[in-house]
Amino acid sequence: MTKTNTPAHVAIIMDGNGRWAQSRGLPRIRGHQKGVERVEEVIQAAPDFGIRYLTLYAFSKENWQRPREEVSFLMDLLARYLDQKLDEMKRNNVIFNTIGHTADLPGPVREKILRNVQETRTNTGLVVTFAFSYSARAEITDACRKIAGRVKAGTLREEDITEQTVADSLYTAGLPDPDLLIRTSGEMRISNFLLWQISYAELYVTDKLWPDFTREEFSRALESYQQRERRFGRTDAAPHAAS
Ligand code: FPP
Repeated sequence: MTKTNTPAHVAIIMDGNGRWAQSRGLPRIRGHQKGVERVEEVIQAAPDFGIRYLTLYAFSKENWQRPREEVSFLMDLLARYLDQKLDEMKRNNVIFNTIGHTADLPGPVREKILRNVQETRTNTGLVVTFAFSYSARAEITDACRKIAGRVKAGTLREEDITEQTVADSLYTAGLPDPDLLIRTSGEMRISNFLLWQISYAELYVTDKLWPDFTREEFSRALESYQQRERRFGRTDAAPHAAS
C-alpha cells in the first residue's frame, strides 16, 4: 500500500463475531474475544497506514437487547480491555475517545472510560473513538434538543442554524467526517452508525468476518479506497483527503 491518498478518518462496523464462533462450534462470546485481538491489530496498524482517526462501532443501543449473558460478557470484556490497554495507548501516543450514551454502561466501565480519556488526552497521535451504546438517530435527536435549547435560551437565532451548527452539536463535534466506512461480514447496511457524518464516505464491505479482519485485510480496504475517485456530488474529481 502506498501512503498517498490515504483516508484521514476510517470508521468500522465490526460485524460477524457471532458467526465466526458459531461456524467453529464455539459459543458466540469466543467470537467477541477474538474480535478484541483484531481491534488491537487495527489500532496498531492505523498510524502505519497514515490514518489519523479511527472510529469503531463496539456496541449499539440496540445491542442491549441481546441475551443478558452475552451483554454482561461484553461489558466484562470491555472493562478488561480498558484496564489492559491503557499503558499501551499511552505508550503509542493514542488518544482514547468515545461517542454514544456511555451513561447506560455499568458504573465501573464508565469510570474506566473516564480514566482512559483523561490519561490519554495530552497524546498527539491516532484518535481512536469507540462507539458504545451508540445510535445515530439518538445522536441526531440529542443534537436537535441541544440546538432547540440554545434557541429557547436566546443564544442562537433560528436563522443562524447551519449544517455546521448541526455537526458541532453531534457527539463527533471536532472530528472530521469519515472518508472511508468499512463493514465486515458482508451485510450491505449502515445499522444506525454515523448517519450524518458518512454522507460522502466511501463504503467498503468485505465478506471477511470481524475476527478474520487482519492487518492485510485492512490494507486491502485502504487500497480499494485509494483507487476511488471522490466527487462529493460534483462532476469533477475532488482530491482525496490529505494523508
Ligand atoms: C458484532 O458481531 C460485534 C459486536 C456486537 C460487538 C463488537 C465487539 C467487539 C469487536 C469486541 C469488543 C470490543 C472491545 C473494545 C472490548 P455479532 O455478534 O453481531 O456477529 P454476528 O452478526 O455474526 O452475530
